[in-house]
Parts: sequence; C-alpha cells; structure tokens
Amino acid sequence: MAGVFGVDGSLPSSRMLAEELGVSRTTVTVAFEQLLAEGFITVRQGAKPRVAAAVIGRDLRAGTPSQAGAVRLSAYGERIRGIPAWRDDAASPLVADFRYGVLAPSDFPAGIWKRAMNAAMARRPDRLSYDDPRGLKRLRMALQGYLWRARTLRCELDQIIVVSGSQQGLDLCARLFLDPADRFVIEDPCYVMARRTFAGTGACPVPIAVDRDGLQTELLAGVAARLAYVTPSHQFPLGGVLPVARRRQLLDWARQNDAYVIEDDYDSEYRYDINPIPPLHGLGDSDNVVYLGTISKTLSPTLRIGYLVVPPGLQQVFATAKQLIDRHSPLAEQEALASLIESGAYESHVRRARRLNGERRQALLNVLHLAFGDRISVEGANAGLHVLVRFTDLPQSLEAALIDEARRVGVGVHSAAPLYDPAMTEARRDRISLVMGYSALDARQIERGVQLLAQAVARVLS
Ligand SMILES: Cc1ncc(COP(=O)(O)O)c(C=O)c1O
Repeated sequence: MAGVFGVDGSLPSSRMLAEELGVSRTTVTVAFEQLLAEGFITVRQGAKPRVAAAVIGRDLRAGTPSQAGAVRLSAYGERIRGIPAWRDDAASPLVADFRYGVLAPSDFPAGIWKRAMNAAMARRPDRLSYDDPRGLKRLRMALQGYLWRARTLRCELDQIIVVSGSQQGLDLCARLFLDPADRFVIEDPCYVMARRTFAGTGACPVPIAVDRDGLQTELLAGVAARLAYVTPSHQFPLGGVLPVARRRQLLDWARQNDAYVIEDDYDSEYRYDINPIPPLHGLGDSDNVVYLGTISKTLSPTLRIGYLVVPPGLQQVFATAKQLIDRHSPLAEQEALASLIESGAYESHVRRARRLNGERRQALLNVLHLAFGDRISVEGANAGLHVLVRFTDLPQSLEAALIDEARRVGVGVHSAAPLYDPAMTEARRDRISLVMGYSALDARQIERGVQLLAQAVARVLS
C-alpha cells in the first residue's frame, strides 16, 4: 500500500483511506498528524494531503547501511573490531563445562544479599542525585578495613575508587597511562581481557614469559614501557606466586622506567595450602603501583563491582575519568556490599566459598589423577578457581578435534593457547593445555566431566 500512495505526491482523503483500510477516520487523522509533524507530508486547507517534496523519490531505507563493512570507525574501533564477539554458551547445556570465571549460583549468599539490597532500597534519600564518582564513602571505608584485614594493604580512603569490575579498572589504567605506539609489559601467557584492553589504546604489547614463579622479571632488563600488568599472587593462568626478589626487581624496573605496575589481585581469597600471599602493593613506596580487586570471584561476576587503590596524586584524575565514563557505579549495590563487609558477613561468606571451592578442587585433582595419571601435569592447583592441565601425549594439532569431540559428548573444555602471545612461537605450546575452571560445578559433574573428557581423548587419539 505504501508504494501506491505518493507516486504522484497526493494521498487519499482521510475519509477515503479510512474506508479502504476499515479503520475509523480518527485513526487516519491521527496518523496524518504524526506524518505531518515528522515532515513526511504537507497539508493545505481543503486539499488532499501530499507527500512532502523532499521525500518523493527518496529511498527511505537509505539510512541503513546497504553494504556489509561500509561502517566508518575510529582508530580504536578498527583496532577492536577483530576481537571475537561474545557468545552465549548457556544455549547448549553440557554435563559439565570447565569454563573458567563462572561461579555456582548455590554458593551465592542470596538471603543475605537480598536483605542488604532491600535495606539499601528502603533508605529514603532526601534527593535523587549523582554521587561521588570514586564510589560510596561507606563502601570505600568498608573496603579500606577489608583490605587491611584480608590483604595487609594499608591505604588512605581517598586512594580507593569503586569501579564496575576489574575490567573498568583496566580500562581506566589504559586510558590514563597509554598512548598509541607506547609499550606495555604483559605476562605471557596472560589474562586476555587485560591484553586487549591495553592494546585497544594503540599501545604495543611487550610479552614477557612466565614460569612457575610468575613473570620472569630478569627479562625486563633493557625493556622500556609505560606500564606492566601482573598477577603476582596467583599468575593467570599458570598459577605461580611471584617471589619477593622478583617483586623487588619489578618495582625497581618500574621506578627506573617511570612506569606503573598494575597489580591484578583477582582471586587471592582462594589459597588452599598456605596463608594468602600479601600483595605487591606496599612492598615499595607504592607510588607507581595500581592495585586492582574484585568481588567477581567471591560473590558474583554479575554484580560488576571492583575497586582500585591508586597512588596518591592520581586520585583526582582517576575520579574524573570514572565520572566521564559512567558518573559512578550504581549506589544500592555499593550500599549492600558495604553492609555485608561491615557486618562480617562478607568475610564469613568468603571462608565458606573457599571451603566449597577447596572441595571442588580436590575432587577435580583426584579424578584427573585417576583418569590420566602421569599423562598430564597439573599446574597452579594451590590457589584460585582453576587449574592448568597439560597433556604430555596430545600434540597441539589435535586441540580443535579434542575440544569438538569433548563438546559432542557433553563436556566443555577450554584451551590455554589463546592466552599466549599470538606472535610467540608455537614451540612453547606444542602440547595441548587446558584451563579447567571448577567453581561452577558440583563433585558429580566434575567426576562425570573428566570421565567424558577421557573418552574424548581416547577417541581423538584412536
Ligand atoms: C586475571 C583476572 N582478573 C580479573 C578478573 C575479573 O574481572 P571482573 O572484575 O571485571 O569481573 C578475572 C576474571 O576472570 C581474571 O581472570
């Protein structure tokens, strides 16, 4: 019908159109008024409405891109457009998915959180207005106490910035410390989100190899860079703890190069053998260390709450950058978290989560040992929520086949290969390595999942 009207510029009268369409005249009149208001038609007293001259002959769909790839992006857009899109894997249910970074919903302290949120929502503010970009003062005070008790990290209240997960902390560091063509030191293998975030600025990664003790800081000699990103308490993904000598070497390097160290302390609550490792922050004068914490491993990644401890002198610029991005993080969740930390409920939840994940970890280690014996080596099992499993007899060339076959029989496994610098030689990872997260699974799923993985391995090798 739309193609018929307006060929010669005129539309039927409202009465005729109402009859033709079987609707009331009011409906047509209202539609005409809308078209008139938007400039698609013109109306003169006593005459039929006409299609506006500017519209005739125009393809109204011309506003949508007609050719794939005809988008125009900033240099930043071009740099990140090749990153694979997020996939919703929940769509294909598996017997067990050893995906890293997922928590079991049953671990979440739903009752306590709900009460805290209700209390936060019930508080009647005297106005609805924007708040401090650094985060709710009550939460920052609670975090200040928590960081001291749990991490022996001492800082001023003003140094703490509440962010939308560690991810926003990484993004703030990238924006504030890096320019295109700058260099940044990154662990190899590493947390890919960090590498991508820093590389998004146009800065160039300088991958530094990691061994069982974390970043090989002796390789920093002669390297000039603006920042170094490290996971010293539990290297992601290999699991090493950076020894004090290397910590000092790293801090010395940062001082000599006028560089910042970004300390990602993402899962230090989970140590199963010894007491938690104190952070790097505080070892030196901390003027060039940015500490990054999160509740994504303790409470839930869905809440999107993390925190930065920034060097004195940088509080203002971090607060301004945070304000320019999203004003501040949502207040009710901040208030709820503050009340959990103040009451001690957060720390008792962390103890419970540590016990539950310790049991899962043990179940996984037992069943991996039973299923594969010395055909695998397991790294990084003393801490965190994942282990790294290296197969001694499975060449890298079989990796895609193994992952596909495992998925076909109902188990999700994930390669460590993408965590290595893409430019590094294949030789360093000539055997299949898997990052196996266990924090979302129960003991039965872990057992069945590893049995199915063993079947998949046998099939791929046969
Ligand atoms: C090394 C590392 N840092 C940080 C995070 C947490 O990120 P966020 O706080 O943005 O959820 C993860 C999550 O998987 C991680 O592996």
